[in-house]
Amino acid sequence: MKTIAIRGGEVVDATGSRRADVLVEDGRIAAVVPEGEGRDLVADVTLDAGGCVVAPGLVDLHTHLRQPGAEEAETIETGARAAVLGGFTCVLAMPNTTPAIDSAGVAREVLELGRAACCDVRTSAAITVGRAGEQLTPMAELAALGVRLFTDDGTGVQDGRLMRRALEYASALGVVLAQHCEDAVLSGGGAMNEGAWSSRLGLPGQPAEAEEVMVMRDVALARMTGGRVHFQHLSTRRSLELVAAAKAEGLRVTCEVTPHHFTLTEACCASYDPVFKVNPPLRTDDDVAAVRAGLASGVVDCIATDHAPHTPEAKEQPFDQAPPGMLGLETALALALTHLDLPIAEVLALMSWRPAAIIGADDAHGGPIAEGRPANLCVVDPSATWTVDPDRLASRSRNTPYAGMRLTGRVRHTVVDGEAVVIDAEAQR
Ligand code: DOR
Repeated sequence: MKTIAIRGGEVVDATGSRRADVLVEDGRIAAVVPEGEGRDLVADVTLDAGGCVVAPGLVDLHTHLRQPGAEEAETIETGARAAVLGGFTCVLAMPNTTPAIDSAGVAREVLELGRAACCDVRTSAAITVGRAGEQLTPMAELAALGVRLFTDDGTGVQDGRLMRRALEYASALGVVLAQHCEDAVLSGGGAMNEGAWSSRLGLPGQPAEAEEVMVMRDVALARMTGGRVHFQHLSTRRSLELVAAAKAEGLRVTCEVTPHHFTLTEACCASYDPVFKVNPPLRTDDDVAAVRAGLASGVVDCIATDHAPHTPEAKEQPFDQAPPGMLGLETALALALTHLDLPIAEVLALMSWRPAAIIGADDAHGGPIAEGRPANLCVVDPSATWTVDPDRLASRSRNTPYAGMRLTGRVRHTVVDGEAVVIDAEAQR
């Protein structure tokens, strides 16, 4: 395995920041030496980190890799390539594949395909068989394979009694239940946020309350069972207020928000372009302000992409018929650096070490950059500007709502398991 020297950067991790050179050998960090002193380090590959931040690799808790079943939209291989170009060294595959990841057989297949990919691909599994909301999956068997997070993402678990049972099992197994909060009766097939915009555009809306009532119920179930609940892609002010109150009470809850929910509003839907259709839907200016405030205050634990590739054919349908979802992996970090008024160390906490801790991936990702630690790193130029060009994305799909947008902050190099998989913003395999 080639040795790598990362020279001239500012190392930033949960312990602070310092100017240092980093030597990587045999998949691990072999040395971290004050800048300049690394001059004599001999390595096969030298990565220039001048003007850059050298950080633990990013961890995405919410990635739709579409394999098995929708390989025309993404594969584990292409999704992983998009991930490393976005600075991620670890992604958690969502289980709404075809078939769903609801059995040991399918989970094993995903993990096996992941081993050949260019980043660490971990998998979640469904809470209910076929994500149909009726019968629990073999959670113990799946946990034994290393599954640390269960979710029916794409839909929420509607049956409160089943969710209670799942939480009881999850507590015993030491795993997290993640919820896509959507009361399906209340959301009733709404294609965008319900409000003045949906009325004006004549599109069916789903109210904020469809999300909020499920957050409310699951906070109650977390209290009742002592189980850990992770709320996925929260999008409304009141959802975040509910999580803040639950945390103040000492309940074991965490939550994530997506880049699109802190950068875009429901007004984007006025174009009728389905690229802006996503679930939960883009919300109001006030909700966006609340999501940003939650990121700054610590109520929000992490940023997750909800990377949701769809083929052009699927996304070219009329707004109300097109599937929800947008790409996220290659733009997430730059959107956070460009649009959040947060120091880079805080953005990295939200995208690296905090999400890593939620799924127990902090043994390999997000940890301090120190001798002996696994070498999963990203090197980010915080002042480089670039324009999002859908044709240049590594994802197999093109459904980014940020086409043509100018962003500040670019991933320059990514190292996974001691291998430089991105050099100067180019994927190496
Ligand atoms: O917008 C979304 N797309 N939200 C989801 O919950 C599912 C996802 C998908 O799988 O496309």
